[in-house]
Parts: sequence; structure tokens; C-alpha cells
Amino acid sequence: MFERALGWLTPKKPPAKSPTEVYPPIPMKLAFQTYLGLGWYGIEEGDDGTRVWSRNIAEIRIAPDVTRVVLSFTSHYYQWTGSPQTIEFSKDGIHDFTLQVTTERTVVTVNCKGNHLISIRTGTAKPSQFRRSSDCRALGICLDQLVVEPLRVPALSEQKESWLLYGESNPTGMPNTLQLEITSACNLKCTMCTNHAVTNPNLVSLGGHMNGSLWDKIRPILRDVEVLFLLGDGEVFAHPHFLSYVEEADSLGVQTVFSTNGQLLNAERIERIAALQHLFRMTLSIDSPDPEIYRRIRGTSLAPVMQALREMGRRSPLADRICVNAVVMKKTLPSLQQFPQQLAEMGLKNLVLRGLLNYDFTLDEECPEYNDDDLRMLRNIKEDCTALGVQLSLMPPIPGELVEVSRDERHQDLKYEAPQPWSELTGPQTKQCFDPWLRAVITRDGSVHPCEAFGLPSGPLGNLTTENFDQIWNGERFTRLRQDLLQGRQLGCANCVRRQTGPHPLQHFAARIVREKCWSSEKEISLTVRNTGAFTWTQEVQLYLGTSGQRDRTDSVYYHPQWISRNRVCTFTEEKVAPGEQATFRCPISKGEPQRPERFQLVFDGRLWLPSTQFQLPFATQ
Ligand SMILES: C[S@@+](CC[C@H](N)C(=O)[O-])C[C@H]1O[C@@H](n2cnc3c(N)ncnc32)[C@H](O)[C@@H]1O
Ligand code: SF4
Repeated sequence: MFERALGWLTPKKPPAKSPTEVYPPIPMKLAFQTYLGLGWYGIEEGDDGTRVWSRNIAEIRIAPDVTRVVLSFTSHYYQWTGSPQTIEFSKDGIHDFTLQVTTERTVVTVNCKGNHLISIRTGTAKPSQFRRSSDCRALGICLDQLVVEPLRVPALSEQKESWLLYGESNPTGMPNTLQLEITSACNLKCTMCTNHAVTNPNLVSLGGHMNGSLWDKIRPILRDVEVLFLLGDGEVFAHPHFLSYVEEADSLGVQTVFSTNGQLLNAERIERIAALQHLFRMTLSIDSPDPEIYRRIRGTSLAPVMQALREMGRRSPLADRICVNAVVMKKTLPSLQQFPQQLAEMGLKNLVLRGLLNYDFTLDEECPEYNDDDLRMLRNIKEDCTALGVQLSLMPPIPGELVEVSRDERHQDLKYEAPQPWSELTGPQTKQCFDPWLRAVITRDGSVHPCEAFGLPSGPLGNLTTENFDQIWNGERFTRLRQDLLQGRQLGCANCVRRQTGPHPLQHFAARIVREKCWSSEKEISLTVRNTGAFTWTQEVQLYLGTSGQRDRTDSVYYHPQWISRNRVCTFTEEKVAPGEQATFRCPISKGEPQRPERFQLVFDGRLWLPSTQFQLPFATQ
């Protein structure tokens, strides 16, 4: 939550030149930027390499759930003469603060309206911190310490209440996706499965289930979650309560995604699955449609799984939610060419071919070489799928030129959200991980991780058996991880394919709902949002209020013909919204009576759903 508490020290253009100073001509290129403590400054260098500008107008925004305070620190450009730098404070919104300025340091202590005591000390940079003598002309504000002292962490139930009361985005910015490993037990022992191949030769007997008391702790989190993934090693249907957990989530409007080997499906279970309202994706792992090859891999008969598939293919809309997943191996690839036709005949529409992962190098024999023959077979499958209306995803490590990820698979696998086309806005090569803002992974022992890369040197970021989820999600370790990712610091996840290149988009694009300025009537809603990123919003950036809960849903009871579309409500009314400024989203709504509150969220179209901007209608009346 650090980045939410602190906001950004936002670079702006140098102040208008004063009559007594002569500034070098534009254009200039950015020479370097650096972080000092928690603040940062930038220096622009003229073409001759000697003239240096600083950009030191900084704004520190403090998130509404911490406090209502907005502080502005302004540092004027000046030539180094040994006199102290001028610092101005805009007192907008400050509830109660003390200010102490010395030539060395400025200390501001702010007592917030919220539940936190925040003290911020700023120090001016010393000439010794600059790289050349000419650099000392440009001095910046740099925060050297920020102390956030939570006086009391509000209980989840209170946070929930204030969310409803004010129509605020969820104040804790809870994850919108939760991934649970509810078991590691399995009824099969497939030859390629990394679970038992690497770590547990006796997996079948060693497997364990998440226990009921842990589920009791997870249940309240689900109210805030959009998608629940029940994935991990093991077989979900081996857990005695798996389906009732899914049904509970479903009754709360949470979309569910899970993967099964299908061996434990029966008529009663299919019936219950078909009754789910919010099933997003159920994947059946069938590595080959050839019964003999299947048996060699999974050690059992293919027949019951095919029967279940046929049964589900007959049921609409369930059929559209079913996906067949096959691992591409030397022994499976030729037979996979039968899948498009077979699936189409059964009324099924989704096929995923996933390259074989060979973590422990015991599967060398099974890894396809992806020679011309192999590639030809994959292309055949692709063509047949297109012709038969089957949506195909080809996932790594299938060779890059063939990799293709369908929209639904992207939704499932958030890592594909990262390499979005940011470059024209944030500079080249931006590719970053969003997981710590969007998702949490909870393993069956209650450990909470930011993603499936469990190997962070920090270990799990908390454990539900000893802490509440909101304490973990908003706690120091999660906060530090987010801050590290934003600032591009080396982490344990440095080798992750989702690791950053270029600036993090969330430094550029960030927003917070200004809750006391949000209101709704029967005919209209008005939402005020502060731009907390470093990027000025213009009408070209396509920032919209979108339907969420289930993102992009088109069934809003509030839909009004003046909306942009069924899933895009409106954009902001201002022409431009600079960092720190507020934007207003105002639009008519139809008088709706939803069965349950409907969710909305800000979205940069085609790029990013902004974390912590979700809210729901109706706003409860105060
Ligand atoms: C570990 S399983 C757990 C869920 C369930 N038991 C199943 O078989 O679907 C999740 C998925 O990983 C796939 N899988 C197992 N070993 C793999 C490997 N070495 N490479 C790629 N995928 C693998 C399985 O086929 C399955 O689709
Ligand atoms: S059924 Fe799934 S978890 Fe079990 S051994 Fe096979 S691939 Fe692994």
C-alpha cells in the first residue's frame, strides 16, 4: 500500500522563467533520473552538455483510506548560491499539521482524518549528490523518510461498510483475482506431471487438502473478488468439498476457473456444474484423444472423461465454458490432429495445446523437437480449428511464432496482460508484472503469495492461519514488493518472464476515487477520481468507466442509451487531467433494480483495468 499511501513525486515542467534568469533553449533530452530515498528528481541536459534543468515540482498524495490529506511540495528552479531552496506547501485538504523548516531539512507532521499518523520529512539534495558541478544548479526535493504509522487496522467488516456507504472503490484495493490451491492430492499419477515427477514420488499418498477452517477465512474475501482460480497441483475433485466451495463462490457472483482430469466427474456433479451461473472456464486435461496413448500417460481409461465431455457438450451454455487442454509431447502430437473435428462434433469450442514443461530434465525424451513435421501438424490443427469454429490457444513452450493466446485464456492467465502496447505512451519496452496489485495465491497450508512463483527469497508474504487477509494484502511485505516492482528494484522474481523492462505502467497510470465527491441519484451518477499517476489524461487516452465484476459484461440494469456502449459507461468530462488533478465521470443511468450490487471500474481501453478504482452501484444512501 506504500505506493497508494505515498502517491508519486510527480515531475512537471520547469516553472515559467523569471525575469532575472535566462534559461537554455528547448529541446532538451532527459539526461538521467534517479531516486533519492523515496522521492526522485530528474535533470535535463542541454545539447551542449552543460546546461542543466531540474524538474522538482512534487506532489505527494495520500490515499483516502489512509487520510484525506493532499500535500504539495514545490521547489523552484534556482541557481546554486548557497541559499536554501524555496519550498512551498499547498495546504489543500490538510486537517492538522505542523511544519518545521530549517536550512537543512523540512519536517512536516500530519495528523490525518483517517486512522493513521503520518510524518514526512523532506530534505533538499546536497550538491555532493550530483554528478557534476553544473548539476548543483538543479536541486530537488527528496523525501528521505516517510513513516506511516497505522493506529488501528480497521476490521474487514468496517472497511466493507465504508465502501458501501460512500460508493468508494474498495478501500483496501483487494485483489480482483484469487488463486487457491485447495489440494495437492491426486487420484492419478501422470507421466509428465511435474508435481510428482520432481518433488513427491509418492504424491498420491502424500497429497493434502486445504482444511475447512482455512476456507472459513477465505470466504469473506470472496465478496471482493472477481475471479476465483482453483488451480494448483493435485485434482480438485479429490477434495471432498470442492464443488460446494465453487457453489459458494458462484452464489456471491464470483467467476470460477478450474482444471480437472475429469476422472471423478459423474452425472450428479455435471448437473451441479451446469447449474453454476458464473463458471468462467472448466478445463479438462486430455492429453490425447487416442485411448491407448492416453492410458500410457495417465494410467487409466479415457472413456469416462469422453463420456463426461459429450454430456457437457449437449448442455448450453455449459458447453461454451468447457475447454480441453492437451500437453504437447512427442507421443501425443500426431493424435492431437483429431481433436478439432471431435470437439466440434461434441459441440465444444475451446482447445488449448500447452507445450511440455520439462522442469527436472527427466522428460527430455518426450519434448518435441518442433521440426518441420511437428510444425506442420500444429498448423493443420490451427487451420482445422479456424474452419470448425473451435477457439485454439497454443501456449509456450510451443515455438514463439506459433504461440497464440485466445482472449479467454488471457483473462485466465494474467501474465498476458503485461505486454500490452504501452510503448507509445510510456517509452519503449514496457512490460511489467501486475500480479501484486491484482491477485493473491493462497496455498493449501494458508500461505499467501503474490503469484505462482513461490520462490521469492522473502518466502510467502503472510499466512492466513495467523493473520487476516487484509493485514497481509495491505501489510508491509506486500507493500514493499509493490514498491520494489514500481521502482524496478531487483527482486527474487528477477528471472521471471513477467519481470519488468521499461517503466512500470502503474507509475504512469494510477487513480484514486475521491469518495466524498461521488454521488448517485435515480437518474445519474457522478464519480470524481484523482489522477495519481505521472501521465496527463487527455481525451485520446481512452480512459472509461467500464462494467466490471465480470469485466465488460453487457447486462447492466443501469444501461442508458447515452452510454458509449453496453460495457463502457462514459469518459471524463474535462479536456485534460494532469497528475494530481481530478476528473469527473458523470452520466445518466436507467433506474435499475439489480439482484445484487453491480460493479464498475476505470479502464484504459485495451491496456489496463486500474487497480483500486472499482466501486459498486447502488451507492448506499447515507
Ligand atoms: C497439474 S494439473 C492439476 C489439475 C488436474 N489434476 C489436471 O490434470 O487437470 C494442471 C495442468 O497441468 C498440466 N501438466 C501436467 N504436467 C505438465 C507438464 N510437465 N507440462 C505442461 N503441463 C503439464 C496438466 O495436463 C493439467 O492440464
Ligand atoms: S491428474 Fe493432474 S495433478 Fe494429477 S498427476 Fe495428472 S496432471 Fe498431475
